[in-house]
Amino acid sequence: MEIIIQPTPEAATAIAARLIAGLIREKPAAVLGLATGSTPERLYAQLVDLKLDWTKITTFNLDEYVGISPQHPQSYHSFMWEKLFRHVNVAIKNVNIPDGLAKNVPASCEAYERKIAAAGGIDLQLLGIGTNGHIGFNEQTSSLASRTRIKTLTPQTRKDNARFFGSEEAVPHHVITMGIGSIMEARQCLLLAFGKKKARAVAEAVEGPVTAMNPASVLQLHKKATLIIDEEAASELKLPDYYRWVYDNKPEWQKL
Ligand code: GLP
Repeated sequence: MEIIIQPTPEAATAIAARLIAGLIREKPAAVLGLATGSTPERLYAQLVDLKLDWTKITTFNLDEYVGISPQHPQSYHSFMWEKLFRHVNVAIKNVNIPDGLAKNVPASCEAYERKIAAAGGIDLQLLGIGTNGHIGFNEQTSSLASRTRIKTLTPQTRKDNARFFGSEEAVPHHVITMGIGSIMEARQCLLLAFGKKKARAVAEAVEGPVTAMNPASVLQLHKKATLIIDEEAASELKLPDYYRWVYDNKPEWQKL
């Protein structure tokens, strides 16, 4: 795992934007795995400002709430169109987000997996992290081999996400999420985490055992996982100075 610690979320986001912009320029038909939540908002704004060519890019979002329509202001469909897609020249047919209103959820999840495979797999999967270590909506004790499927949110995640819905009661219980096994097949994973609230989940993911109690810890088994975090999110790490030294002394050819 590569751990990049930056003084602020702004500085961390700038590196993530450079990395994704570099991929889009190098591989104009890249397949991007995208995430929602407050963490990547600034990143999407920066990618918009870079005026990249998205015409051949394909995207797959990690997750969606079950039972709310794509037009619902808190659906992840709405989030993605609002924050990114409507500002760039992405082709609508290349945008994929799990269907929260699917009549046959298992069939729809299988179709989503088949679509990812047909697109050639995901080049870069963007991730945030929940305060309990979840990635996508793979809650604690999710199978580390799981595929796209329905999940039930933990009370903690419903509480964390209540700020978007106005109240905890309004947060759906069910979601569809790409599985941990699906995420692990991406050729690169890029996880962003900002703020003190994420410090414990980040420390456990990076330096704790690989465990379904912290789904992000599975990234220790990924061959190309990069975490870009701010000082606050790094505050419970045991080896922060080592990670800083590594990043500051990268060989020239390896610099981001
Ligand atoms: C939700 C999303 C995750 C995201 C997490 C953290 O649960 N499904 O993909 O990483 O929230 O959100 P935030 O970035 O708002 O802290």
